[in-house]
Amino acid sequence: MTIIAIDGPAASGKGTLARKLAAHFDYAHLDTGALYRAVGLITLRSGGNPEDEADAVAAAQKVGEMDLTDPELRTESTGAAASKVAAIPEVRRILLDYQRGFAANPPGGKAGAVLDGRDIGTVICPGADHKIFITANVETRAKRRFLELFGENGSTADYEKILAELRERDDRDMNRSTAPLKPAENADLLDTSNSDIEAVFQKALKLING
Ligand code: DC
Repeated sequence: MTIIAIDGPAASGKGTLARKLAAHFDYAHLDTGALYRAVGLITLRSGGNPEDEADAVAAAQKVGEMDLTDPELRTESTGAAASKVAAIPEVRRILLDYQRGFAANPPGGKAGAVLDGRDIGTVICPGADHKIFITANVETRAKRRFLELFGENGSTADYEKILAELRERDDRDMNRSTAPLKPAENADLLDTSNSDIEAVFQKALKLING
C-alpha cells in the first residue's frame, strides 16, 4: 500500500495535483476538503451555525448522506463554513476514521491512495510514503480562483472579495488549535506561484519517484 499525502492552503492546486497523481499511478483519491465542505453545507442547509459545536457535530454525523458531487460544495460560502466546522475537534474526530479507513483500504482494491487536505501528512497519515506541501502566495491563489469563477468577466471588486476571503480562510486554517495547516516535518515543499499545473505535476513525480 502506497500513501501520498498532499497538503496546502485553499486554492493552491492541491486537488488538481492529487487527481493527476492518482490517475497516473492508478491509485484511489480522497479530497478530504469535500468532507469538511459537506459538513459545512449540511449545517447551513439545516439553518445551523457552522461555529456552533452541537450544530456542526450533528451535521458531521450525517456526512455519509451527502452527495459529494453536489456543485454547491464548491462555492466560497460553503468553503468558509467548512473552514469553521473544521476548527471543532469533535468534527475532526468524526471524520478521522473515515479518512484513515480510506487510506488503509482504498476503494476498488487500488494499490495506493492519494489524500489531499490540510492535515494529511501531520495527523491523518503521519506514516505516508510521500508528503508534499503545496504553497503559492495568496495573491496568486486569489487570481486563479477569480479566473475559475469569473473568467474574463470579473471586476476588481470580485477579485478583492476573493482575496479577502482566502486571507480569512488561511488565517483560520493555520491558527486553529486542532490539526492546523502546516507542513509535516518531513514534507517536500512545492511552491506553485510561478508554475502551471503540468510543471507542478512533473516536479511532484520527480519527488515521488526519487
Ligand atoms: O481544501 P478545501 O478548500 O476544499 O477545504 C475546505 C476547508 O476544510 C478548509 O478551509 C479547511 C478544512 N479542511 C481541513 O481542516 N482539513 C482537511 N484535511 C481538509 C480541509
